[in-house]
Amino acid sequence: MNEPTAIAARLPLPQALAGQSVLIIGGSSGIGFAAAQLLVEIGAHVTLAAREGDRLASAATHLNRQVQTVQADVGDLATLQALFAKPAQYDHVFVTAGALAGGPIGSTDVATLRSTIDSHIWGTYEVARLAAPQLQAGGSMTFISNSFVYRPLQGVAVGAAAMAGVEGLVRALALELAPLRVNVVRAANIDTPMLRAFYGGANDAQVATIGSGLLLGRVGRAEEAASAALFCMSNPYVTGSVVVVDGGTSLV
Ligand SMILES: NC(=O)c1ccc[n+]([C@@H]2O[C@H](COP(=O)([O-])OP(=O)(O)OC[C@H]3O[C@@H](n4cnc5c(N)ncnc54)[C@H](OP(=O)(O)O)[C@@H]3O)[C@@H](O)[C@H]2O)c1
Repeated sequence: MNEPTAIAARLPLPQALAGQSVLIIGGSSGIGFAAAQLLVEIGAHVTLAAREGDRLASAATHLNRQVQTVQADVGDLATLQALFAKPAQYDHVFVTAGALAGGPIGSTDVATLRSTIDSHIWGTYEVARLAAPQLQAGGSMTFISNSFVYRPLQGVAVGAAAMAGVEGLVRALALELAPLRVNVVRAANIDTPMLRAFYGGANDAQVATIGSGLLLGRVGRAEEAASAALFCMSNPYVTGSVVVVDGGTSLV
């Protein structure tokens, strides 16, 4: 995990988020954790939500216990209801949680893939439904999609459909929930535990090899995707937007 001070030196941070409260569902790892690092650096109040308590505790330790943690599952309505039980607790919600199951269409049944649709489509819908009446005025929700929408890989058909669905939902939610703002960060090839698992447990050298075949010659850093989410939270005239942080993956 990166040191917060090193990140602050590399990326411009939206200081407008200082003192604001942000819930990150999927905050114990990867892009969500990187967002938490940036937000803590700015002086925001951060709550991390995810399923596994040990990973949440580890993430909080890496952030010098400057964050709150709560166990929740975007597929479990009761835990989502508990997250949003208190009115006006959060200014912003960033959701990175979700499954990415895949496999060849000839040998992969619907039951295997259902978690991808359930977590991303119904997870997005339920978070929006529950959060909307409870967020502070001027608040926002930010979700995540993938360049699979335009550049699918073999074996991710349902993942591509889920991500396209999230983008469609976000645009419709932005219309329906205004003046709350709803946006999505479309990422690709960001170096996180999920990416490494997707490539069969890739090590640093293998990640570098994957990156060497990309337009910018490297994979992205988690904080590079996370900073786009902070942009969506902090810019009060951005809603219904898809902010792309894919290193040009969808161009080639
Ligand atoms: N890495 C990329 O290149 C990339 C590109 C585009 C889009 N994305 C998307 O970005 C999201 C985050 O990816 P990442 O690479 O940051 O993955 P990651 O490092 O594996 O982190 C995923 C986080 O989400 C939590 N989570 C997973 N399922 C959850 C659920 N059902 N309910 C609540 N929390 C859950 C995980 O903790 P627990 O497992 O403990 O719950 C963890 O905190 C994913 O939806 C992924 O599809 C990633």
